[in-house]
Amino acid sequence: MDYDLLVYNIGELILPKATLTPLKGEEMKQLTVKNNAAFATKGENIVWIGTNEEVSHLHAKEYLDAEQKVVSPGLVDPHTHLVFGGSREKELALKQAGVPYLEILANGGGILSTVEATKQATEEELVKKASFHLERMISYGVTTMEAKSGYGLDTETELKQLRVVKHLNRKYPVSIVSTFLGPHAIPPSQKGKEHEFLQEMIELLDVVKSENLAEYADIFCETGVFTIEQSKHFLLKAKEKGFGMKIHADEIDSLGGTELAVDIGAISADHLVAASDEGIRKLAKSETVAVLLPGTTFYLGKDSYARARKMIDEGVAVSLATDFNPGSCVTENLQLIMSLAALKLKMTVEEIWNAVTVNGAFAIGQGGEAGTLEVGKQASFVVWDVPNYMYIPYHFGVNHAKTVYCRGKKVWE
Ligand code: NIG
Ligand code: FE
Repeated sequence: MDYDLLVYNIGELILPKATLTPLKGEEMKQLTVKNNAAFATKGENIVWIGTNEEVSHLHAKEYLDAEQKVVSPGLVDPHTHLVFGGSREKELALKQAGVPYLEILANGGGILSTVEATKQATEEELVKKASFHLERMISYGVTTMEAKSGYGLDTETELKQLRVVKHLNRKYPVSIVSTFLGPHAIPPSQKGKEHEFLQEMIELLDVVKSENLAEYADIFCETGVFTIEQSKHFLLKAKEKGFGMKIHADEIDSLGGTELAVDIGAISADHLVAASDEGIRKLAKSETVAVLLPGTTFYLGKDSYARARKMIDEGVAVSLATDFNPGSCVTENLQLIMSLAALKLKMTVEEIWNAVTVNGAFAIGQGGEAGTLEVGKQASFVVWDVPNYMYIPYHFGVNHAKTVYCRGKKVWE
């Protein structure tokens, strides 16, 4: 066979386990790293994986010398708020003065200030702005991601955000999984009428479904935002209407969102900084993936992080994401999150690679599609300008990606 591309002279080829379920327990701790490897692509897929010694017999239209560097699957970022208007740098001074995140929100700032800016922006403006951030994510090695709405809190603006995601999915070769997060905050005009607002969001789910604008539904379950009962009601309605379920759970206060996620069969439970022992035990027995967001804990200036060690040791499938958004975590850099996972969550480098590839994919229903390098699967990969796979979390805050391919095409260099 004549290949399209032959990638050879790979110092370390990172091969997360190809599996049908998220990696947990001992499996999450293991990572296969193949030395002196090579692989070939045809069209969008990988068609051969072997050793460098075998390459001399093979022919391809193009060759890529990896120069003994590291190659991994394209990274997966399973939790982002990619589409929004404006920015919130003015809140930095409030944060420095010690005003808590939920207090800024309760005073009409925070998420609500981004809602105003997103309402003001046209669809074209949002496409342009989100493209800028998306291109940066790609440059950092991400080829599959999730993007949430949630800066509209009304029909028109929520749909506008979701249409932007759809547009971006056509514009770029990366895969963006879309999530409806209508109940992200309570609009000031609806204060005291939370039930009516939630009902509006439930009705909006039908429009989202009929226009095929999102696969998942999500809610911010937190003190002063939505209660456990409201979150359960909304998510079960979403499930009935054919959506997968996700939840912003136990981010600041321990309300029991983690337990709820497992009880209703959510695909992921996200944040989990304040998850209870019982929540962790339940997660371990379930297929729900824990999406940990250490960049947010860091950016909110908190000292205690999600208990990743306990989660992994008890058998929870853990993944990592940026949570990229204009308020609680302003970075597109998943490599920085890998460093925080090592330093603050005490995850091993092997666990971190599994978390940003295969488990990230399972957190957004892309398991078996993204996050691995396998014959017959998409040729989405990154050549890293590093000497070995342990180097990325170690050397923090910069971009180590040298070349990024998505479905057989070079998307960044
Ligand atoms: O995941 N926690 C709620 N939502 C986002 C923050 C959104 C914002 O502050 O704009 C989060 O951290
Ligand atoms: Fe979030």
